Amino acid sequence: MSDKGTANQGNNLDPWYDHYAARTSGLTASEVRALFAVASRPEVVSLAGGMPYVSALPRDLVVGAMDRVMRERGAVALQYGSGQGVPALREQILEVMALEGISGSADDVVVTTGSQHALELFSKLFIDPGDIVLAEGPSYVTAMVIFNSFQADVDHVPMDEHGLIPQALREHIARLKAEGRRVKFLYTVPSFHNPAGVTLSWERRLEILEIARQNDILVLEDNPYGLLYFGDRAPDAMRSVESEGVVYLGTFSKTLAPGFRVGWALAPHAIREKLILANEAAVLSPSSFSQLVISQYLSDADWQGQIDTFRGVYRERKETMLAALGEYLPELSWTNPNGGFYVWLTLPERLDSKAMLPRAVKELVAYTPGTAFYADGGGRQNIRLSFCYPTPEQIRVGIRRLATVINGELDLLDTFAGTGSLNPVRPGRTYPNPPSDLR
Ligand SMILES: Cc1ncc(COP(=O)(O)O)c(C=O)c1O
Repeated sequence: MSDKGTANQGNNLDPWYDHYAARTSGLTASEVRALFAVASRPEVVSLAGGMPYVSALPRDLVVGAMDRVMRERGAVALQYGSGQGVPALREQILEVMALEGISGSADDVVVTTGSQHALELFSKLFIDPGDIVLAEGPSYVTAMVIFNSFQADVDHVPMDEHGLIPQALREHIARLKAEGRRVKFLYTVPSFHNPAGVTLSWERRLEILEIARQNDILVLEDNPYGLLYFGDRAPDAMRSVESEGVVYLGTFSKTLAPGFRVGWALAPHAIREKLILANEAAVLSPSSFSQLVISQYLSDADWQGQIDTFRGVYRERKETMLAALGEYLPELSWTNPNGGFYVWLTLPERLDSKAMLPRAVKELVAYTPGTAFYADGGGRQNIRLSFCYPTPEQIRVGIRRLATVINGELDLLDTFAGTGSLNPVRPGRTYPNPPSDLR
């Protein structure tokens, strides 16, 4: 991927196609994005997107905060602000992070336009074309879009049910060093992983930090889901035990609402300074309005109680999804997330999740094929299922439809290959052509 070819990155219907920068070749529409259009039809149960269930947030709480901000600090809310973010909010962000064992200084917090923008700014600071970014396999799709756009090569390190495997990380680093490649950082989502739904164990967190230290590799800890745990407490962040070698990313998107577009980075001093400059260059200042409303909300509302409410909603949905999988697809295997939004389903070897998607949409259920989460073509045997947005009833219907699709695919293969199936073959089942936009 380091060789991005010529600057001809568009197509010949676009008169400027030979003007685009070589790095834009990574900017192709993601599979998730293409899906949204098709899966947003009301009759389709979408288990594809990762949208938080914002209906569980009482509107009054937001209206109350907005009202106070506009009446008491309207002139500030409507003005440009500091490139680092509102000081009072940065102090409150410390309280949020304390729930994950992090102690730090508000001086080292940089407020960004969602954590997505922190990923972009961080990448801009650290990635040269051809650099290696280590990431879990699978990994968060839109982080990889950013890494690609800066012409990095993503090297996937495998995971198991306890998260990233330290020995595999050692082996990857050794191989890359032997090949003379430069590893800039490790990108990780240690808690309630998107898309795998697994959580990095505490022992492994320590081991991975030690490996990173020994090899002079920075750790980018992306933690949007940490407070949405289904157990007793949030896992302690990697940043809670390592402040120099970790840049931590947080967000209000999942614990409040993504519409505010407010996230943050907590970074070692020198990196924080560069992040502020990059933030100013990109947006001058993050939204004063959003920051002040969130700050007011954190002062006035029972925000931890509200996170409990979200946790309850997502826990029930996850349990519904796992029960439906157990009922309709008992032969398959899947992860059992202890928080967050996602279940990672493994299909029988013969199936291809990407090829099967058009048929699923035809059966009125959408999912994200595992291939979206690998930079190297992996993931054909996997599906990411999101339980965050559909209601429990929709989840049951969606999984039932998915089972029909999977069993239908297996029947079809059996018909041609004459091998055994998970369920009795239903003769005469046919599938029409997929919609043209999904071929
Ligand atoms: C792992 C991960 N990182 C970052 C983000 C971006 O979140 P936001 O920009 O809304 O803070 C998401 C959103 O789904 C995510 O899943």
